[in-house]
Parts: sequence; structure tokens; C-alpha cells
Amino acid sequence: MRLDGKIAIVTGAGSGIGRATALRLAQEGANLVLNDLNQKTLDEIARQAGSAHRTKVATVAGDVSREETAASIAATATSQFGRVDILVNDAGIHHVGDITETSLEDWNRLIAVNLTSMFLVSRAIIPIMLKQRSGAIVNLASISSFVGQEMDGKSTFLYNVTKAGVLQLTTSLATRYAADGIRVNCVCPGGVKTNLILGSILKGQDHIDDSIWKAIGPSHPMGRVAEPSEIAAAIAFLASDDASFITGAALPVDGGYLAR
Ligand SMILES: NC(=O)c1ccc[n+]([C@@H]2O[C@H](COP(=O)([O-])OP(=O)(O)OC[C@H]3O[C@@H](n4cnc5c(N)ncnc54)[C@H](O)[C@@H]3O)[C@@H](O)[C@H]2O)c1
Repeated sequence: MRLDGKIAIVTGAGSGIGRATALRLAQEGANLVLNDLNQKTLDEIARQAGSAHRTKVATVAGDVSREETAASIAATATSQFGRVDILVNDAGIHHVGDITETSLEDWNRLIAVNLTSMFLVSRAIIPIMLKQRSGAIVNLASISSFVGQEMDGKSTFLYNVTKAGVLQLTTSLATRYAADGIRVNCVCPGGVKTNLILGSILKGQDHIDDSIWKAIGPSHPMGRVAEPSEIAAAIAFLASDDASFITGAALPVDGGYLAR
């Protein structure tokens, strides 16, 4: 119960890494404010987290790239719990396509969901943490923050640009607020078994089998992709007091991908 009584916000908690993180933080004793697009999905996760661990859960359904959703997350946390100890900026979407076939709408959408969301929610929550003089923010960056990548011969440049932005947002907030007791770190996952990857590969097919994970695995020195729970474990560590002297870090959780 490393996070006993802590109040944690998780955006994008409806699926994949966000969902696994919500359940992991609950397992470690935290109470939760969960965001995603769909209320029904949030209710299901709230039930799961609440019943297994007697966690108190509040939910805010809405597009986290919109200012009103960020404001509503902050208002819900303060009205329901009176404080915020942990913010996990997780919500994100993928994009595969060369620059020559990427529209301005694609560009604006990726920047909005992957980067503007983290700006807006951090901006809404940092004043609360400043008043407390404590808090931990964990952002979802990626191995894509560091390297060029292609999928099926097409570039993932736009996604990679947003994840490089997450890295710098993390670094700059970390140094600015270090003396105020707020730690800001990011995790940089390699391939993880989630809908984000499946959605990029599916491209109109309604089903693909598990062999896809076997195909992606070998690009990682450990020879496999991650389970969402393995990323959640790293996030829980960075969010906890076990990481009390760690800020501004970009922690690869990538089976050795960036070590190559
Ligand atoms: N899966 C990977 O291989 C991988 C690798 C590195 C980083 N990441 C990052 O991890 C994070 C989570 O991704 P995932 O793999 O769990 O994907 P996922 O698709 O399983 O989950 C993402 C969640 O974010 C939600 N979401 C999307 N847009 C939103 C919006 N505008 N407002 C609120 N919620 C929104 C989705 O509904 C979904 O529930 C993302 O930031 C992603 O870039 C994933």
C-alpha cells in the first residue's frame, strides 16, 4: 500500500496503459479521478477498481484536449478529495503516414490529443500541487520521443513529434517546480499490447490474431513487447515516494530498445 490515501488522476484510463495504471494505483491504495472519452467504460473501470480495493473513484468523461475537460478534472479532484498527489497524463492516439500524405487536420488532432492535453491538465493541476507543496506528475512519452520509426513502410513522424514534445514538457516542468516539491517524470515505453498499436495495424480489418505481437517483439532486445501492467508498474514507482529524489527523468520501459 505504497500509495495509501493518495489522490491520483489518470487521463485516458479507459484502455491499455491508462486502465492498467488506474488498477495498479488503486491496488497500491490510491483514490482515483479517471478520465476518458466514454462514461460507460469509465464506470466499468471504476467498479473494477472500487470493488477490488475499496478505492474511491470519481470520473470525468470528455475530450482531454479541451480546456473545459481539464478544468472539470481539476474541479472534480478538489471537490471530491480536496487535493491531488499524482497526475498521470496518459491519453494519446497514434498516427501512421508520411508527411506528404498528412493533412493539417491530422497534424492539429495529434498535437491536440497527445500534447495540448498534457499542457492543459498540468496547467490546471499544478496550482493545486503548488499550494500543497507536493505532487508527482508522470507523462506518457515513448521510445518514439527519441528515434525515427516506420510501420509497414510508412513514417510515424507525427506521433514521434508529439512524444518528443512530451519529453521537453517533462524536462521543463521538472526544473521549474523542483524546489516547490513537485516532481515531473515521464516513462518511455517500447511496444505495448494495447488498442493503440492494434488500431494502427488493423486498418479496416476487423480482426488480427496474437501473431502481431510476435512480429513486433524482435525489434526489442528482450524479444517481446510489453504487457500494459509492466508500464503501469514503472508509472506507480515514479508516482510514489520511492522515487522521491527523481525528477526530470525519462525512464525507458522498452525491453532494451533504446539501448541498442
Ligand atoms: N502502446 C504502445 O506501444 C505505447 C508505446 C509508447 C507510448 N504509449 C503511450 O501510452 C499512452 C496510452 O496508450 P495505450 O497504448 O494504452 O493506448 P489505448 O488506445 O489502449 O488507450 C488510450 C486511451 O486514451 C483515450 N483517449 C484518446 N483520446 C482521448 C481524448 N482526446 N481524451 C480523453 N481520452 C482519450 C482512449 O479512449 C483510450 O482509452 C499514449 O499516450 C501512448 O502514446 C503507448
